[in-house]
Amino acid sequence: MKQALIDPVSQPLETKKDVLGILDVADSIPKILDDALTLKRLLGKNGRLDIASGHTLGMIFEKNSTRTRVSFEVGFKKLGGEVVVMCKNETQLGRGESVHDTAKVLSRYLDAIMYRAHSSETMAELARHSSIPVISGLDDKEHPCQVLADLLTLKEHFGRLDGLKVAYVGDAANNVAHSLLLAAPLVGMDIRMVSPPDYRPEPGMWKTAEMLAAVNGTDIDQTGLSHEALSGVHVVVTDTWVSMGDETEQAARVAAFADYTITPEVMSWAEPSAVFLHCLPAHYGEEVVESVAHGPQSLVWDEAENRMWVQMALLCDVLGLTVPRA
Ligand code: CP
Ligand code: NVA
Repeated sequence: MKQALIDPVSQPLETKKDVLGILDVADSIPKILDDALTLKRLLGKNGRLDIASGHTLGMIFEKNSTRTRVSFEVGFKKLGGEVVVMCKNETQLGRGESVHDTAKVLSRYLDAIMYRAHSSETMAELARHSSIPVISGLDDKEHPCQVLADLLTLKEHFGRLDGLKVAYVGDAANNVAHSLLLAAPLVGMDIRMVSPPDYRPEPGMWKTAEMLAAVNGTDIDQTGLSHEALSGVHVVVTDTWVSMGDETEQAARVAAFADYTITPEVMSWAEPSAVFLHCLPAHYGEEVVESVAHGPQSLVWDEAENRMWVQMALLCDVLGLTVPRA
């Protein structure tokens, strides 16, 4: 999302790139994935590349995190950047300072903000009042960085995205599900959302995805879990049944999803070469059993690592830093 800046201190008007949802990078997905692969190849485990030196990333967490926090911090430091981590309740935001004022102040110190928020409204408010790029590290509607990592993982594994058939099984109305639903048509993948009727994608998301699928000539549909629903599928994706913020519905959700556990038998309904993705953390015995997540079809560990490489490429994109060609 390119935003015209209205903050008087930022005159003359310029534009900045926020990434609040996956559609904000719709046009740059191929470049981000290519840059991520280049960085992964160039840097390996311990390499560094000093292209972000002088830049500081701030990260605000309203919710817990392991992967997002560590992968952003380690990744930006590998590029020579500095990182400041803020847990909301340890900042003045936690004592009621407005998002508006926080955005204006942080924009004076930082070059970009990664924000993990409860609500997409607060996410948008922070972006609106910041004169620097804001990247979502998840809110109640979307998790764009996760889905960029999923695309990178599939591209690495299959050598292509175009033509892959993906089934998302579980809570199809959560943040990961929505970002994947919107991303699939953009990269030529067919997507099937497999969930109980009360947990289908939000209607607005579904409508947008249908439009994108029509434009890009891909298939989308939604159904319940069955042998047939996974027939011909190359990628089975799931996520927790109880996202952060949904804890009061825990018992009802566990009951509603009781028949949606990804077991080796469920995986066998997909293509024999099908792979399994999960953003993690996993809840073994609920959305997936341990033997699938740790089994031969699982790409979840590459997927977790790829959060770092793809976010490094994303940060370069929003900050206008050039990733050298390999
Ligand atoms: N997948 C993911 O976002 O993990 P964290 O909650 O640990 O950041
Ligand atoms: N849907 C999950 C993703 C966690 C990374 C949640 O929001 O809790």
